[in-house]
Amino acid sequence: MDSTPPHDPELLDKVINLAKRRGFIFQSADIYGGFRSTYDYGPLGVNMLRNVKNAWWRSMVQLRHDVVGLDAAILGPPAVWAASGHLETFTDPLVDCLKCHGRFREDKIDGVCPNCGSTQFTESRAFNLMFKTQAGPVEGDGATAYLRPETAQGMFTNFNNVLTTSRKKPPFGIAQVGKSFRNEITPQNFVFRTREFEQMEMEYFVPPAEAEQWYRYWIEQRLNWYLDLGIPADQLRLHEHELADLSHYSRGTTDVEYRYPWGWDELEGIANRGDYDLTQHSVHSGVKLEYYDQAANERYTPYVIEPAAGATRAMMAFLLAAYHEDEVEGEVRTVLRLDWRLAPYQVAVLPLSKKPELQGVSQRVLEILQPHFSCDYDVTQSIGRRYRRQDEVGTPLCITVDFDSLNDDAVTVRDRDTTEQVRIPIGELLATLRTRTQ
Ligand code: GAP
Repeated sequence: MDSTPPHDPELLDKVINLAKRRGFIFQSADIYGGFRSTYDYGPLGVNMLRNVKNAWWRSMVQLRHDVVGLDAAILGPPAVWAASGHLETFTDPLVDCLKCHGRFREDKIDGVCPNCGSTQFTESRAFNLMFKTQAGPVEGDGATAYLRPETAQGMFTNFNNVLTTSRKKPPFGIAQVGKSFRNEITPQNFVFRTREFEQMEMEYFVPPAEAEQWYRYWIEQRLNWYLDLGIPADQLRLHEHELADLSHYSRGTTDVEYRYPWGWDELEGIANRGDYDLTQHSVHSGVKLEYYDQAANERYTPYVIEPAAGATRAMMAFLLAAYHEDEVEGEVRTVLRLDWRLAPYQVAVLPLSKKPELQGVSQRVLEILQPHFSCDYDVTQSIGRRYRRQDEVGTPLCITVDFDSLNDDAVTVRDRDTTEQVRIPIGELLATLRTRTQ
């Protein structure tokens, strides 16, 4: 028996349940009844989310010479958002149901109220998704600030700073990972659409004539990133937007879509933003945001290719794709077949008993492995139940320390997916595990 993810109608509920029960994702402020659409990442979730972001950073920044990083402020003055177009156009169409007074995004409800079934609504109006707040102790226009609804603008406003300090020249990129905030009308589907979320965005600045070529390049790179981290090819597809559906800044957008339990939906967007952003910020700030190509003796405004992913949304897709139920020794088990780079723990060290001698050896094993792997340590319950617990949270390797270990200075290494066990001398453990996690 093997329930491949998209075919199980209860998959979403099972993953939400597991996420809560095992400490991946909790409803925020749940002791107060929960705060809608915000989530807290527990001990396992914080590890996994960090692994998702690290995997992105590694592929987008660390392994490249043409992309540098940035960590810009979340709070920003209105001028930035006036220039970017968000104050005017970052809106969703809002309607009220005339019968139950529920508020909905018009484009998501097909003319029927999801609460009461009515088909009578107010005229649709543009609802701005920006969170507005105030900076400093004085109220008024001068103190207005916004929480960023995307990380991207930090890369545009810092274009000159990064260009001069990093000495890069187009094509080059600026990457950022961080929180963004949108006052979504209908947050839904667990962490798929929330009001506070994390993005992983990169703005790649190119000579205008090369924009199309780099747009295609980044679509392929980004699709491959998800494949490489274990999402099956038949659960991913590319969706190129019609010209009429493009955002205000875009000359072309292709989404990487994932087959969620409710159907195909966006995982990440790759856009050709043209020279929209740099031009807008140049005009509004009065500071030229251009590149001077010394060899050709010409000044130009680079075009921008932007792969924009959600870290929290990607984590959800990785969880959904990894969730499996199979049968081991006649028993159904739940197993998260997460890539080892994403698993909250890569290794679990499990002494067979609580006897101090075994705990001593386990401590030594932990000291060898902890600098290199994220390790769990569990001494409670039967070994069979501990294996199941580790399978359920996706730990690729379990190391059992038993009484033989006291004589042969070796341990048993069990593989999550095959459940195969091999005996390995403690002295060879690090080298062996390194080859198993390549
Ligand atoms: N800078 C371009 C930009 O922000 P976007 O398509 O609006 O583009 C990029 O957002 C990605 O951020 C999305 O593909 C999604 O993964 C994530 N994202 C956007 N809104 C989100 C929300 N409300 N909750 C969770 N993730 C979200």
